[in-house]
Amino acid sequence: MNKTTLTLSFPEDIDTAARLIQKGECVAVKTETVYGLAGDANNPLAIENIFQAKARPTSNPLIVHIADIDDIVKWARDIPESAYQLANAYWPGPLSILLKKQPWVSGSVTAGQDTVVLRFPDSQDFIALIKASKAGLAAPSANKYKFISPTTAEHVLTSLNGRIAAVVDGGDAEVGIESTIIDVTRDIPTILRPGPIDDIMLSDTLHREVRYAANLGITVPGSAKQHYQPNTPVFLLSTKEIECKGLRRNEGLISYSSPRLSGHIDEENHLQLSSEPSHYSKRFYDALHQLDKLALSCIYLESTPTTTPWIAINNRIGRVVAG
Ligand code: TXA
Ligand code: MG
Repeated sequence: MNKTTLTLSFPEDIDTAARLIQKGECVAVKTETVYGLAGDANNPLAIENIFQAKARPTSNPLIVHIADIDDIVKWARDIPESAYQLANAYWPGPLSILLKKQPWVSGSVTAGQDTVVLRFPDSQDFIALIKASKAGLAAPSANKYKFISPTTAEHVLTSLNGRIAAVVDGGDAEVGIESTIIDVTRDIPTILRPGPIDDIMLSDTLHREVRYAANLGITVPGSAKQHYQPNTPVFLLSTKEIECKGLRRNEGLISYSSPRLSGHIDEENHLQLSSEPSHYSKRFYDALHQLDKLALSCIYLESTPTTTPWIAINNRIGRVVAG
C-alpha cells in the first residue's frame, strides 16, 4: 500500500472528500470522540480499504455513522422504543446503538452478524461528509489495529500516512475517547463498550436497569484484551508506588493527580492530565502519543479512581497495559 495521503480542510475541500468516498476510498475525519476512518458502508471496496489500511481482522465489525435519526430504519429493523429514547436524548453525540440489521446491510460491515451498530456523531465535519457523499459511513477509529486511537490529524498520519486517501484536519477531538456502545436488542439494555455516557445516565433516560456486558461475561466481537497501545511499554502503578519509585530520566509518567516526585523531573516526561474524568479523557490518547514520540524506556500510568465517571477510562487503561 503506497498512497499519497492528502491533508484536507472543510468546508473548502468537502467536494474532494465526498468524491473520494464515492470512489470507494477511505478518508479520516474528526468525530467528537476520536478521528474515524470513513468509507461508504454500502461499497464493498470501501470496506475492504478500511480493513486493509488498519490491518484490522475482518472479524471485528464496524460502526455505521448516520446524520439523521430517521435514517435508523434504513439500516435497522425491529427497532425497540428504547432506541428512539436514547437517540433523541444523546444524538448527535457519543452513543452507538446496536440493533438488528436490515437484510441488505453487508456482512463485511457487521462481521457476519445479524446486528448493526449505528451512531450519529456530534461533528460538523463528519456530518458534512455524510451529507455530501450521500452515504452511511462505516468508520472505525483512524489508527492501525491495536495502536493508540487518534484525537488529532497528526495522530492519524503517525499511523496511516500512505495507507489512506486523505485526512480532514478538524483540530482536536473534544471528547477524546470512543463512544459508549449499548445493545438494546436484549431484555435488559447492555453496555458493550463503556464510554462517555455511563450506565447511570442511560438508565435515567430509559427509566430502567442498564447493565455492563463485562459484568455478565458477555463477549463482544472486536474487544481485544490489548488495544490502544503505544510502541513504548506501559505499566500501571498506584500513586504511592510512583512516589516510592520516582522517575528516571528515560521514563515517562501520565498522572491524574500530582504525585510527589523527588529529584529533577524532565517536564516533557511527566504529563499531568486532570482529576476531572472528562478533562482526563480529552487528553489521554494525546498524552500516550506525545510520550511515545520521546522513545522512552517505559511509560508509567498512575491508576485512576474506580468510581463510575472513571469506568470508561479504566477500561481503556486496562487494555493499554495488558500484556
Ligand atoms: O467513538 C467511536 O465509536 C469511534 C468513532 C470513529 O465513531 N469509532 C470506533 O470504532 O470506536 P471502532 O471500530 O474502533 O470500534 C467499533 C467496535 C467494534 O470493535 C465492536 O466491539 C463494536 O464496535 N461493534 C460494531 N458493530 C458491532 C456488532 N454488529 N456487534 C457487536 N459489536 C459491534
Ligand atoms: Mg478503535
